[in-house]
Amino acid sequence: MKIFVAGAMGNLGSVLCPKLKAAGHEVIESDRNDLDLTDHKAVLARMRIERPDVIMNCAAYNAVDDAEADEGFKKAMAVNRDAVRSLAASAKLLDAIIVHFSTDYVFAGDKPEGYTEDDIPKPISRYGISKLAGEKAIRAMGVNHYIVRLSKIFGPAGRSEAAKESFVHLMLRLAASKPELSIVDEEVGSPTYTEDIADATIMLLEGDFAYRNYHFVNEGPGVTWYQFAKEVFEKRNVQIPYHPVPSSAFPKPAARPKFAALKSTTFPLLRSRTDALDAFLATF
Ligand SMILES: NC(=O)c1ccc[n+]([C@@H]2O[C@H](COP(=O)([O-])OP(=O)(O)OC[C@H]3O[C@@H](n4cnc5c(N)ncnc54)[C@H](OP(=O)(O)O)[C@@H]3O)[C@@H](O)[C@H]2O)c1
Repeated sequence: MKIFVAGAMGNLGSVLCPKLKAAGHEVIESDRNDLDLTDHKAVLARMRIERPDVIMNCAAYNAVDDAEADEGFKKAMAVNRDAVRSLAASAKLLDAIIVHFSTDYVFAGDKPEGYTEDDIPKPISRYGISKLAGEKAIRAMGVNHYIVRLSKIFGPAGRSEAAKESFVHLMLRLAASKPELSIVDEEVGSPTYTEDIADATIMLLEGDFAYRNYHFVNEGPGVTWYQFAKEVFEKRNVQIPYHPVPSSAFPKPAARPKFAALKSTTFPLLRSRTDALDAFLATF
């Protein structure tokens, strides 16, 4: 298949593109320097030239806290809603499939047992509102689509200069440089390895799956940031003291869902988080 990957230099895109190529697909890697997704006309014109079979959107405005301010929210809506609509419109025009990545932050976080694909979203942050608006824009377009929701992804840093290090790297770096750590023991989510998300995405594309929502998460109980850091530290035998603290210890502008673990009920289960973490930790 000919696949146009937007956000190819981000954390997920950087892992996905080489795997798509290794699977034999023709991949057009695009990022901000190549095409500004918020330029609707430019997006449509480019897609008319490339004529991909699949448009894969790994691009996003992910500055969750900045999105609470009006200026940040405007940017979030431009990338997470309007650009997604432009990509969906292009897919519709070309009779292509759109694969779009969304987030657990579309949910309110009031479901301790975790959310399934058909649970009703109710975002509690402006970032979550913008991501839900992107999902809705795709559905409203009536285009063949896979919407894949993710939660707290970890893996190697993306190729973009602006790419953020993963929580796993951050914790190990801080553990090596601080005498002790306080880690938020709230915000239950489903940390998932980008390698596994990429493999599952290829399986989704190559398989005979329905056009609907999917939750790609490594198997395992939802964890808070503290619990996830504990898993990492135990595997790496980190000895420094670290303490659970409430999120109020690190006040942030955006509210985070308290319980937003994602449950997968429509796709073969990904490997366990503990195996995925072992695999990632073996890479550095
Ligand atoms: N990270 C997580 O923990 C997490 C959790 C749940 C869901 N997700 C979702 O997973 C997907 C992938 O996330 P990620 O962590 O890989 O994101 P990322 O590393 O921030 O990558 C996003 C990419 O999009 C590009 N981009 C932003 N605005 C653009 C524009 N106007 N035109 C063209 N490109 C633009 C960025 O370019 P620059 O680098 O130049 O800005 C960046 O390369 C996103 O949909 C995200 O919402 C992520």
